[in-house]
Amino acid sequence: MDVALTAGDLGDLRADALVLPHLQGLPLGPVAAAADQALGGLLAEARTTGEARSEFPARMVVPTLGRLPVGRVALVALGPAALLDGYRLRNALELCGRRLKRTAARVAVALDPEVVAALGGDPAAALRGAVEGLGLANSETDADRSTPRPTGTISAVVVMGLGASEPGLEAAARQAGLLADATNTVRRWQWRPSNRFTPSLVAEEAVALARETGLEAHVLEPSDMASLGMGTLLAVARGSHEPARLVVLRYRGPDGAGGATELALVGKGITFDSGGISIKPAAGMATMKADMSGGAAVINAMGVIAQLRPPIPVMGVVPLTENMPGGGATKPGDVVRAMSGTTVEITNTDAEGRLVLADALAYAIKLGATHLVDVATLTGAVSVALGHSVTGAMSNDPRLLDQVRAAAARAGERVWELPMFPEHDFVLESDVADIKNAAEVRAAGSINGAVFLRRFVGERPWVHLDIAGAAWNDQPGLARLVPRGPTGVMTRTLAHLPFVVAG
Ligand code: BES
Ligand code: ZN
Ligand code: MN
Repeated sequence: MDVALTAGDLGDLRADALVLPHLQGLPLGPVAAAADQALGGLLAEARTTGEARSEFPARMVVPTLGRLPVGRVALVALGPAALLDGYRLRNALELCGRRLKRTAARVAVALDPEVVAALGGDPAAALRGAVEGLGLANSETDADRSTPRPTGTISAVVVMGLGASEPGLEAAARQAGLLADATNTVRRWQWRPSNRFTPSLVAEEAVALARETGLEAHVLEPSDMASLGMGTLLAVARGSHEPARLVVLRYRGPDGAGGATELALVGKGITFDSGGISIKPAAGMATMKADMSGGAAVINAMGVIAQLRPPIPVMGVVPLTENMPGGGATKPGDVVRAMSGTTVEITNTDAEGRLVLADALAYAIKLGATHLVDVATLTGAVSVALGHSVTGAMSNDPRLLDQVRAAAARAGERVWELPMFPEHDFVLESDVADIKNAAEVRAAGSINGAVFLRRFVGERPWVHLDIAGAAWNDQPGLARLVPRGPTGVMTRTLAHLPFVVAG
């Protein structure tokens, strides 16, 4: 998607539609007021009468009948200024963009001063939010339809009202375009059915992306995993006919020389999670094609990182396999040895994410990672705790967690910490091995997953991001506020993170 900034006024605008975000209880800003004047006061009148509602995220689209050089104007209600943040701004603009793209390929958006003020006075934050929100409206589900539905695409965004001379805004505009496109790629990957997106095919896409963006890539095959002693990853792969893969993508730093700090992004890449022998119920099992959402976010964030070139080196590590109940499958009660040497009693084969991540974290450490962030659709329990708009974060290091929070704020994504207190440990004690992979009880399910993973990072700073809720919004009612379907969550946060960690 193309992004441009313009300092020009409405008369010079060339676009198919003009989006005017407005805040509850505040007068229209300067660009919106100028548009209103050209339209003979229609917008202000519609706000007064209630045709243009002020509740988040109400939209009103009107044709301009030649009174402005754009075919239509869209008023988008951002709600009260006090509740506005990067997440709400993106959601309002995505929902509006979904409606506009049928008739508008080139969309202008006016960021008047009151919107910038509501976002802490940061024009770059307003710009990122508006551009990414409109860009996110482009994601579609039609890849496997013989005749795609004619939904249209927003191919260019023009930002008005910020003044193009503001330093850093041109760079933020370009980044926002890249970040929206990368998030949409992740969403497309989340939709892809597991028969058409096997571990080998995901690995091929990762290698192709690496070639396009100049990342180093290498891919482990099952024989490599066996020589490395990756017993927990292979324990999950045993039940499937599809060979496992482990993808490593590396960005070596701006001068290619590496550095003292190396950030590892580790993403769960289960291309289908049937549960294995601890098989899942049929209802809803199809959604387990998206159990590679964390891996997809890591791979596509690495593609952005390669283009934006942060000051520190970053590696992406993604273990890819199906979790299936084939004849060779791991059975409840089996004991395996992880690459780190820890022995694991597999009490529940459906707690497979932590098993593949255990070896992926160990491999990242072997490759030199000093700081680790994993992203995984790990537990259904995280959506019980936090719902579908929030990523659960668990960490052994308050500083790295703060850095993840800062990156998420820049990305317009929600992250909330769940604790790991000493009383959370005992549930994973095994009678026969060093640790078991799943507790008998459902209590603190998400925290138990994190406690397991913590065993494999030693003392290194680490953050675990559980996206099992936030990866996909299928909650009735929530779709009014948050676009429905796959979200590509954490792609943008991960892409920002190395810049924050580098300070
Ligand atoms: N992939 C699932 C978690 C999941 C659930 C993701 C719903 C998205 C939506 C994960 O592998 C899993 O099955 N977790 C188990 C863990 C349990 C067996 C300890 C769960 O959440 O029930
Ligand atoms: Zn899973
Ligand atoms: Mn599972």
